[in-house]
Amino acid sequence: MRTDKPLLKVHDLHVAYGKATVVHGISLEVRNGEFTVMLGRNGAGKSTTLHAISGLIPKKAGRVEFDGRDLTNATPRDIVRAGIVQVLEGHRVFTMLTVEDNLLIGTYARSPGGDRAKLARIYELFPELKEKRDDHASRLSGGQQQILAVAQGVIGEPRLLILDEPSAGLAPMVIDRILSVASELCKGGMAILLVEQLVEKALRHAGYCYLVETGRIAAAGTPREIQASDVLHQTYLGGHAAAGT
Ligand SMILES: Nc1ncnc2c1ncn2[C@@H]1O[C@H](COP(=O)(O)OP(=O)(O)OP(=O)(O)O)[C@@H](O)[C@H]1O
Ligand SMILES: [Mg+2]
Repeated sequence: MRTDKPLLKVHDLHVAYGKATVVHGISLEVRNGEFTVMLGRNGAGKSTTLHAISGLIPKKAGRVEFDGRDLTNATPRDIVRAGIVQVLEGHRVFTMLTVEDNLLIGTYARSPGGDRAKLARIYELFPELKEKRDDHASRLSGGQQQILAVAQGVIGEPRLLILDEPSAGLAPMVIDRILSVASELCKGGMAILLVEQLVEKALRHAGYCYLVETGRIAAAGTPREIQASDVLHQTYLGGHAAAGT
C-alpha cells in the first residue's frame, strides 16, 4: 500500500482536442522518490495526460495538485518553476549546439544565463555525455541524443521528472541505461512518471503502475499486482508491447 502523501495528485482529468474528448476522468498520484510508470497502447491518451499535467494543453475538467498546491490552471513556465519537468515524446535536442550547450538550456527556466555549476553532477550521472561535451549533438547516435534529452530534463533538478517514451526506437542497451538512470534518480529522492511501451522492462523498475486504456485508468497497482491482473493481459494480448523485455 502507498502511504506517503502524494507529490503529484491528478484528479478526474478530462482532456479534449476540439470536440473529441480523449482523456475521460484520469486520476493518478506520484509520490516523492517513487518510480511511477504509465502503460497503455498507442493512442490510449498517455501523452495527452502528461501534456495536460505540464500545462502544454488545456484541461477540459479536473484538478492537478503538486506538493499541495493547485496547478490546474498554471502556465507551463510556472509548472516548471514549481518543479515539474517533462521530456517530450520523440524529443530532439539542438543538433547544431554542443552537448554542453544543450545541457545548459535545461537550466534556463531557473537561471536565464545558464547554470554551469550544475554540469558536474550531470557528468557524474551521464559520463557518456562528459566525453562528448564539446561535440555538436548532431554527432551523437540516436540513443546518445535521447540520453542527452533526458539529461536536459534532469539538469533542471525537477522534483518530478516526466519521461514520455524515452526508449522509443532505441537499442535495448540504451533503454536499460535510461531506465537504470531513472531508478538511480528515484533513489536520490526525485519522483519519476514514465510512459513506456516495453511492459516487462518498465515493470522491472516501477514502484507503482497505471494502465491506461482509451483515456481511462484500467488498472493500477504495484508491478506484481499489475502483472497478476487480467487487464494487462487483455490489453496486450497479441500486441507487440508484451514482447518487449
Ligand atoms: N493534437 C491532436 N489533435 C487531435 N487529436 C489528437 C492530438 N494528439 C493526439 N490526439 C488523439 O488523442 C488520442 C490520444 O493520443 P495520445 O498521443 O495521448 O496517445 P498515447 O497514449 O500517447 O499514444 P502513443 O503510445 O502512440 O504515444 C489519440 O486518439 C490521438 O489520435
Ligand atoms: Mg504518446
